Amino acid sequence: MDSSPSSTPTERLPASPEAITRAGELLRHGRLVAFPTETVYGLGANALDEHAVAAIFAAKARPQINPLIVHVLDIARAEQFVEFGEKARRLAERFWPGALTLVLPRREPCPIAELASAGLETVAIRAPAHPIARSLLEAAGVPIAAPSANRSGRVSPTTADHVMEELAGESDLVLDGGACPVGLESTIVGFVDGSPVLLRKGAIPRAEIEAVIGPVAFPQGDVIAAPGMMKSHYAPGLGLRLDATDVTVDEALLAFGKPLPRTGGPTLNLSPAGDLREAAANLFGMLRELDKTGAKAIAVMPIPNIGIGEAINDRLARAAAPRDG
Ligand code: TXA
Ligand code: MG
Repeated sequence: MDSSPSSTPTERLPASPEAITRAGELLRHGRLVAFPTETVYGLGANALDEHAVAAIFAAKARPQINPLIVHVLDIARAEQFVEFGEKARRLAERFWPGALTLVLPRREPCPIAELASAGLETVAIRAPAHPIARSLLEAAGVPIAAPSANRSGRVSPTTADHVMEELAGESDLVLDGGACPVGLESTIVGFVDGSPVLLRKGAIPRAEIEAVIGPVAFPQGDVIAAPGMMKSHYAPGLGLRLDATDVTVDEALLAFGKPLPRTGGPTLNLSPAGDLREAAANLFGMLRELDKTGAKAIAVMPIPNIGIGEAINDRLARAAAPRDG
C-alpha cells in the first residue's frame, strides 16, 4: 500500500460548522486543509508544526526558499510571533482583518516553524477577513501557514473547483466556501530600517496604504525581497498578448469594458461595465477557462493602471513573461 501524501484522496466538503470543526482537528494533527480567504484559496497547515509546513512545500512542489504567509485572527495573536513597528501597527489597525500581509521581524523565541519563513528572520503575517478562514483559525487554535492553494508558479485558485484542479490528492480536505470575493492575493508590505517597502502589489491599492503611512518604496536593486515574486509567475499554459487593440481568429479574447469587435472565437469579459474590482474577482478564473480553449494565445485588452488595476496589470505582466521552462 502506498501511503505517501500524494495518494491521499482529497475530501471536499461545503464549509459547514461541522466541516470547519473537523478541518481544525486535521490541522492540529499535522494535516493539510485548503480553505477560502477573501483574496484566494489557501493551502493551510499548522504553522507551529515543522513537518506539516514541510508537507505544504511538497504538495505545491514549491522551492523551500520561498516562505509562506502565516494567518492569525488579530494583532494580539500576531504580536506573540512578530514585532510591530509603529507604521506596521497603524497599517494593521487600519486594514486587519483584511487583504494586507506584513513582513515583520520574528520575536525571539518564536514558535513559528523555521521553514514557514524559509529561514529568514522575518515572518509574513496577516489576519484574513473571510468568515470561513476566521472560523477555521478559531477551530484550529493555532496560527495557519498558508500559501495560495495552487501548484508552484501557477495561477492562484479562487474557487474550490480550481483547488481540486491544482491539488487533488495533495490536500487532505478542501473546504468549499464558494468564490473568493476579492480574487487577487493580498498586498505585501515589508520594512527596511523602518521604511515601508511594497513587496507585492495586491488587493489593497498602494494609494490606500500610502494614505495611512506616507510613501511606500518599491524593492531596490536586483534583490527580490519577496522570494516568490519571480518574473514569470501566475502563469497559465497559453501565452498572453497584453494591451491588445485587435484580436486574431485563432486567439482567445480577455476583454475589459466594451469588447473588441470579432466574429466568433472564445471571448470572456473581465467586466463589461469596466469595473476594476469585478475584473480582479474574475481574472484568475477567466484565465483558467481561456487556457482550456485550445486557442493559440490569449489577447488581453488594456486595463487602467489605477487602484486595484495596478495589481491586475502586475499579475498579467507575470503571466505574459517568458517562462523559465
Ligand atoms: O492573499 C494571499 O496573500 C494568499 C492567501 C491564501 O492568504 N496567500 C498567498 O501566499 O498569496 P503565497 O505563498 O502564494 O504568497 C506569499 C508571498 C510570496 O511571494 C513569498 O515570497 C512572500 O509572500 N513572503 C512570505 N514570507 C516572506 C518574508 N518573510 N519576506 C519576504 N517575502 C515573504
Ligand atoms: Mg501563490
